[in-house]
Amino acid sequence: MSSERKILITGGAGFIGSHVTRLFVRKYPDYHVFNLDKLTYAGNLENLRDVEDAPNYQFIRGDIVDAPFIDKIFQQHRFNGVIHLAAESHVDRSIVSPMDFISTNIIGTVNLLNAARSLWENQKSESRDHIFYHISTDEVFGSLGDEGYFTETTPYDPKSPYSASKASADHLVRAYSHTYGLPAVITNCSNNYGPFHFPEKLIPLAINNMKSMKPVPVYSKGENVRDWLYVEDHAAAIDLVFHKGAPGSNYNIGGFNEWKNIDLIMLLCRIMDEKLHRPAGTSEQLITYVKDRPGHDLRYAIDSSKISGELGWKPLVTFEEGLRRTVDWYLANEEWLMHVTSGEYLKYYQQQYHNR
Ligand code: NAD
Ligand code: TYD
Repeated sequence: MSSERKILITGGAGFIGSHVTRLFVRKYPDYHVFNLDKLTYAGNLENLRDVEDAPNYQFIRGDIVDAPFIDKIFQQHRFNGVIHLAAESHVDRSIVSPMDFISTNIIGTVNLLNAARSLWENQKSESRDHIFYHISTDEVFGSLGDEGYFTETTPYDPKSPYSASKASADHLVRAYSHTYGLPAVITNCSNNYGPFHFPEKLIPLAINNMKSMKPVPVYSKGENVRDWLYVEDHAAAIDLVFHKGAPGSNYNIGGFNEWKNIDLIMLLCRIMDEKLHRPAGTSEQLITYVKDRPGHDLRYAIDSSKISGELGWKPLVTFEEGLRRTVDWYLANEEWLMHVTSGEYLKYYQQQYHNR
């Protein structure tokens, strides 16, 4: 492997992307890590303060939907690996504004595929020297009933505009790999949680609302099931797949950690009351059952035995430990939470990076 490896991480200012960027910048001082991000409402460079001055890190502000710009930066920097996380990621937003998802998640992915293909096509390379890695979701598989798991061969059956856009991107990555021989790999991961999670998603929203004694919205009766994974366990899996995953293949990533939404919220209530030294039952009173999400997938559950068996990955952080760490982080990072809920961070960074 080249000692001057240039890695492009897209969406590095987002939740998972910032953990992956931090891991790569710290663990691989001989790699040059480029973080390409548009800084949408979900992108926040405050997530990367601790690595922003590292000599092997560089931020590029830009939009993956802008094809000439993407071609230009590929030709300029000649990346030999891409970890593609940039996306519109929130299901509820995709129900309200599907076009942003079509544009970024599908067109944006194709722009990156085209740029990688034309850069790598004429290069003699060992296959491991170039890799296009798409970070995808278990939601492409649709919804499970009470039994069973998603495996790598489960047929795609996406149900929301978000999951349909991610499924389209996966299909295109596979098509480029099959048709043009682009070395590519895909992982489909379950719901992540942890520090730097934007507080529109269930866990950080609930922590934030419990902290400020605001209602905690639970859709329908809270019977829907998600399979939760601590974000650093996901970042470790991404590191492993990027370096050891077989080109042309896909891996499921999950924690064998299924929770009904209401049971998760009850556990969180307990942890929050304890951490905030409140009488037991205080946070529980905030639970408010609200109208269901349209087309709400009932259950996701991942069988991650392929990545465990082939690459030796396993999650290290138990759910209770991960939730406690997450709560501690949100309670200790009031300023971050204030900035993202007020949108303050966007004004500052969008001015800073106005001219890319
Ligand atoms: P996020 O919304 O926190 O971050 C997305 C990042 O992409 C932001 O920094 C945003 O500014 C950037 N971005 C959006 N549109 C862009 C564009 N057009 N050009 C350049 N940058 C753009 O998302 P996340 O939760 O960190 O998810 C990251 C990836 O992982 C996504 O591809 C998502 O589908 C996938 N994923 C997420 C989860 C999860 O539980 N969060 C689970 C499985 C897979
Ligand atoms: P979310 O964090 O949006 O992730 P996803 O939809 O990608 O799984 O939601 C997780 C679960 O929590 C999902 O079943 C919807 C539910 N939910 C609520 O009950 N209340 C909320 O306010 C939110 C945002 C989600």
